[in-house]
Amino acid sequence: MPRLPDEYLRRLQDSASIVDLFSAYTEVKKRGRTYVCRCPFHSEKTPSCTIYPENQSFYCFGCGAGGSIFTFIQKTENVSFMDAVRILAQRTGIELPQQSPEEQKTANLRRRCLEINRETANFYYLNLLKGPNRAGLQYFAGRKLLPETIKHYGLGFAPDDWHQLRDHLRSKGYRDEEMVAAGVCRQSEKGGVYDYFRNRVMFPIIDLRGSVIAFGGRVLDDSKPKYLNTNDTPVFQKGSNLFSLNFAKNAASKKILLAEGYMDVIVLNQAGFPNAVATLGTAITEEQARIIAHYADEVIISYDSDGAGQTATQRALGHFSAVGVPVRILHMEGAKDPDEYIKKYGAEQFRLLIENAGDAINFRLDRCKEGLDLSQEIGKNELLRRTLRVLAEISNPLEREIYIVRTAQNLEIRPEVLRLQVDKAVESGKKFAKRMKFRAIEAQSLQRDELNPQSNEFPKEAKAEQEIIAYLLRYPEEYEMLWSIVQPDDFATDLHRRVYQAVCQAMQEQQTRFDLTLIEDQFSVEEIGRITGIIAKYRDIELNRDALETCVEVLKQKHKAAGGDFTEEDLLQAVANRKKNG
Ligand code: GTP
Ligand code: MN
Repeated sequence: MPRLPDEYLRRLQDSASIVDLFSAYTEVKKRGRTYVCRCPFHSEKTPSCTIYPENQSFYCFGCGAGGSIFTFIQKTENVSFMDAVRILAQRTGIELPQQSPEEQKTANLRRRCLEINRETANFYYLNLLKGPNRAGLQYFAGRKLLPETIKHYGLGFAPDDWHQLRDHLRSKGYRDEEMVAAGVCRQSEKGGVYDYFRNRVMFPIIDLRGSVIAFGGRVLDDSKPKYLNTNDTPVFQKGSNLFSLNFAKNAASKKILLAEGYMDVIVLNQAGFPNAVATLGTAITEEQARIIAHYADEVIISYDSDGAGQTATQRALGHFSAVGVPVRILHMEGAKDPDEYIKKYGAEQFRLLIENAGDAINFRLDRCKEGLDLSQEIGKNELLRRTLRVLAEISNPLEREIYIVRTAQNLEIRPEVLRLQVDKAVESGKKFAKRMKFRAIEAQSLQRDELNPQSNEFPKEAKAEQEIIAYLLRYPEEYEMLWSIVQPDDFATDLHRRVYQAVCQAMQEQQTRFDLTLIEDQFSVEEIGRITGIIAKYRDIELNRDALETCVEVLKQKHKAAGGDFTEEDLLQAVANRKKNG
């Protein structure tokens, strides 16, 4: 069943009064801005069910039932969401939209978007090679790209003009709104449309079927923003695609080189490494890691050697370990990225670099000294503490031993001393894991949450997540701010993660007023009850940025701790014990 258009659901919901619906079942009393009644869904003497006309929802504090008009009908008539919609449509006389023309429209728009992208790529390409302005070609020549490379990637140049592409596309029969939908043009305030990419060298992004789905465009100088990328469109989501995967997937090597920039990937290709890919202007997502995992039995992260690149590497490590692909990390010295490295030292040298790329553990061990002053006692202690932590997380004892010996050498201490500490940390880690497990079981036996099972194990996080969701549902227009500080991956419990994701996504697609019905078809009635409960619970509680940030911090802490089995406290304890004993 394809999704019903949001406007339709909204119209339907606005056409009926939730108070009237309830009144047909039970006696309803007004109390301030809300109504209360005895819950139609469980038997009770005193009313604990509240109706909120403000957003056409209800919640029962007694049994946890709750939701929208549609949920109410689902529960009273015992039908599915779609049937509830049909029933209400019949009652109100607001006819269901014809499904197939709608679907046809979407499919048609997607097709037009792809055609426009192809036409646009061609336009940029020809403009690069044959246009009057040679600036784009000069730029690529300056970056030492060969003509065959330009052709291979279909690189282009967007003219320094507000309407040239638009006029070209018009002449080919495309409508303004279609150009905007494809992301190559933008709507101006005055109502016209103008070219989105101007005076930029253009990198077409091509999917695995060979369709042009988006573009990246780079300025010719140092002005900002350096890159513009196509925003998400009906044919493109940046978190689900990778630059140059269309070539990399056919490479003989089952290793994938993951670089940060388009230019890195292109230069790598030119230098004989067709197995390089890059994300599209954002940090790598787990979805992208999964896609790569499909084509690679090993990933070599070739991110920039600067701080940002190293932090990004750390993040990527998490995603690849989540999808189970072994990773090695390229260590570039004397150049900031693969592009610069190859220019300076050549492809052969880069090949050696790949061969010598270190594993994830070495990378993490190397990172331990970051920001520390090792001439100071305090710096040395911190280094030891961090190092112990990494070593203790290596689960294979044999492997652990190899790293202990190597690290002892680097730290210039005797391996026996280090081994003793690591063993202790491992032991205390095991104890801690046991304690955690015990606590989890204890919490579970006290009160099992069937709807959102992980909240038994992570009560603190679950509470923080609820508060974040309450905030989001109260101020949905702030979803972008929220998204920038906390992401679904940070959530410890599945239901809350899904809610957060669904609401943010709905807001992104919607760009107008939010209401629960927008996400209702993605959740069961029980789950909708829970979501309404969160809203109800926080209804009269102040929610501000400070409280929100505290909640986000709780989630991030959990994330950090998730890397290992034990806390920093345990480690400090281990080090303290060493001092006592030795
Ligand atoms: P060069 O400076 O031409 O070598 O670019 P690069 O491809 O090496 O890019 P850089 O290392 O600066 O950035 C890595 C990637 O991040 C780029 O390829 C883009 O995808 C993205 N990126 C960089 N700057 C911006 C920006 O201003 N906006 C957006 N949206 N993405 C950017
Ligand atoms: Mn670069």
